[in-house]
Amino acid sequence: MPHPTTDIPLLRGPVPLVHLLLRQFVRCGDQVVDATCGNGKDTLLLTELVGANGQVWAFDIQQAALERTAQRLADVDLLSRVTLSATCHERLADLVSAPVSAIVFNLGWLPGGDRSVVTRPDTTLPALHASLKLLLPGGLLLITCYPGHAGGDTETDAVLAWSRDLDAKDFHVWRMGQQNVREQAPFCLVIQKAAHHHAA
Ligand SMILES: C[S@@+](CC[C@H](N)C(=O)[O-])C[C@H]1O[C@@H](n2cnc3c(N)ncnc32)[C@H](O)[C@@H]1O
Repeated sequence: MPHPTTDIPLLRGPVPLVHLLLRQFVRCGDQVVDATCGNGKDTLLLTELVGANGQVWAFDIQQAALERTAQRLADVDLLSRVTLSATCHERLADLVSAPVSAIVFNLGWLPGGDRSVVTRPDTTLPALHASLKLLLPGGLLLITCYPGHAGGDTETDAVLAWSRDLDAKDFHVWRMGQQNVREQAPFCLVIQKAAHHHAA
């Protein structure tokens, strides 16, 4: 959400930081992935950033999320740039063919939707692992974690442990969280594939 009169981005919560990074790193013509499209806000930004020659793959397991994302994109006539997939992100490597410059995960539940459907570590972790292989050197994997809900705490711990184990020669791993908020507030992990990447 920008400042109402100056249009300066307001850094309230992790999503504006994710969007700043996407604006910096995603270029016209890029191929990118939204692994949890939800209400489609990240998908829309990605679609605008890649332009007419780019490609966006967007995943969600809930029909309501896919419909909201499709509507958001159709409203601005950008639906044709996006491949929407009613598929668990665990399978994203089966559907995404190209190396990509950015992959976004926004974990947890669909805002304004069914709160019993949440991302889960047993599928999130394989999806994150597969995502690393799809990234171009210099590409970004951005993960917003929600430790504040039941199940979100264990998922967050699992994602943090996984990220800590990534070899620093191959990946630059950052944790970005607001300090002056409750301890369980959401935060963002930023993982960049190194320019000279060695992992198999
Ligand atoms: C926090 S929301 C995403 C919000 C979205 N980035 C936005 O801008 O509106 C999380 C989404 O992940 C979806 N989800 C949960 N498990 C999933 C899975 N295994 N594969 C893909 N999406 C999943 C949920 O249905 C929900 O819509």
